[in-house]
Amino acid sequence: MRSAIITALDIGSSYVRSIIAKDLGSGRLEIMGIGECESEGIERGIVKDIQALSARVAKALAEAENSAKTPAQNIHCNITGEHIRTYVGDGRISIPTETPHEPGEITLEHVEQVINDAKNSVKIQKGFERFRILHGLPHNFVIDNQNDIHNPVNMNGFHLIAKVYAILSELTPLRNLSKCIELAGYDIDPENFVLNHIAVSEAVLSEDEKRLGALVLDIGGGTCDLSIYSRSSLEKVIVVPMAGKNITEDLAIGLKTTLSNAEYIKVEYGNALASSVDQSVEIDVEGISGRAPSRRTQYLVSHVIQHRVEEMLALCYDKAKDFYTPELVTAGIVLCGGTANLVNVDRVLSEAFNLHVKVATPDLSRLNGMISRLEDPAYATVIGLLYLASGKELESGSKGFSLNTLKSNKIVDKFKKILKDFT
Ligand SMILES: Nc1ncnc2c1ncn2[C@@H]1O[C@H](COP(=O)(O)OP(=O)(O)OP(=O)(O)O)[C@@H](O)[C@H]1O
Ligand SMILES: [Mg+2]
Repeated sequence: MRSAIITALDIGSSYVRSIIAKDLGSGRLEIMGIGECESEGIERGIVKDIQALSARVAKALAEAENSAKTPAQNIHCNITGEHIRTYVGDGRISIPTETPHEPGEITLEHVEQVINDAKNSVKIQKGFERFRILHGLPHNFVIDNQNDIHNPVNMNGFHLIAKVYAILSELTPLRNLSKCIELAGYDIDPENFVLNHIAVSEAVLSEDEKRLGALVLDIGGGTCDLSIYSRSSLEKVIVVPMAGKNITEDLAIGLKTTLSNAEYIKVEYGNALASSVDQSVEIDVEGISGRAPSRRTQYLVSHVIQHRVEEMLALCYDKAKDFYTPELVTAGIVLCGGTANLVNVDRVLSEAFNLHVKVATPDLSRLNGMISRLEDPAYATVIGLLYLASGKELESGSKGFSLNTLKSNKIVDKFKKILKDFT
């Protein structure tokens, strides 16, 4: 049944953010309430202290509820971490025929069946016993001997094969995240967990960028979440367990100061390109637990930051380089997440990948209400969750046909259109 209220919940290593919105239909949403607080008890996507984290989740949701004046319902939450796996599975079904030598007509139900068959083939792979499939994205279809069919509906054939890109999460981290939301006093349907990469891409990537190919990089506090899109399909997801918090920790060590002062200095004076700062500028640095304060140059601060940023981006490049060629990602890199606000991080990133970089704020064009504070790359996940949830409602409202609501996938887009034509 179509639900009018949607709650997006972004549980990050640095912040927990939530938005309660009213689904106005036709893809539009009205923001009713926003809640945000610093996170605690989760590191690099893994729950480390469930009591502490559930208290933060409760706080962010209560704040959103207070301004929305309605309870949080229909919660959709992101998930990321090194426990995410991907696997390409094949599904195969026979199409019923009226006479033995006449190919039968392929329907939407057959497509759903073949995708499920592919997902089942992934589930039974050795090593995936304790995993759950979060998303199954059909990449292409084969009808008998004809390869690379984009949309098999209404075509005829004897056999239908689907190649499905499955994204899996280990069960334990998923269960603990779900339990954390329950401990905070809320329910979440296990189907409503969305890979963080897919949520951010929904908010920052245009159709042209998806078609021409792009890398999406969300640099948050705990992880760098990297996605590779090519020819309108999500081709690869990568998680690098290093991000803004590591920069802050390096600064705290390098400047001999507290984590909170290091964070303040990073946000206020940080620059990822030391050569671009004025070497004469000095910054006051607090001492630890009553020790004497000191003065350090902004150049030194930026030098420490640049070192870690380069290390982090080299790790990202190393993990990504075998999965794309520059021609396949013509649009370059779309950068988001809180660390995208670090001055000159885009220039260092462009150097590391030798690609054009765009710092992206989420697309707010589908939203009504208090949206100005959402114009920040850090809000990409929570906005993407809202859009995906609203798309899912539309989809389930139309025919109960679920491909995990991935609008990012060209094939699914086509099916949605076909569904709309049907209903
Ligand atoms: N102006 C800024 N300069 C440098 N860093 C910044 C700035 N603004 C925010 N950050 C950093 O962004 C990080 C938080 O980003 P974000 O809110 O996307 O994280 P998160 O979603 O909680 O974490 P994750 O997605 O990794 O779990 C923090 O490390 C913070 O220091
Ligand atoms: Mg995040």
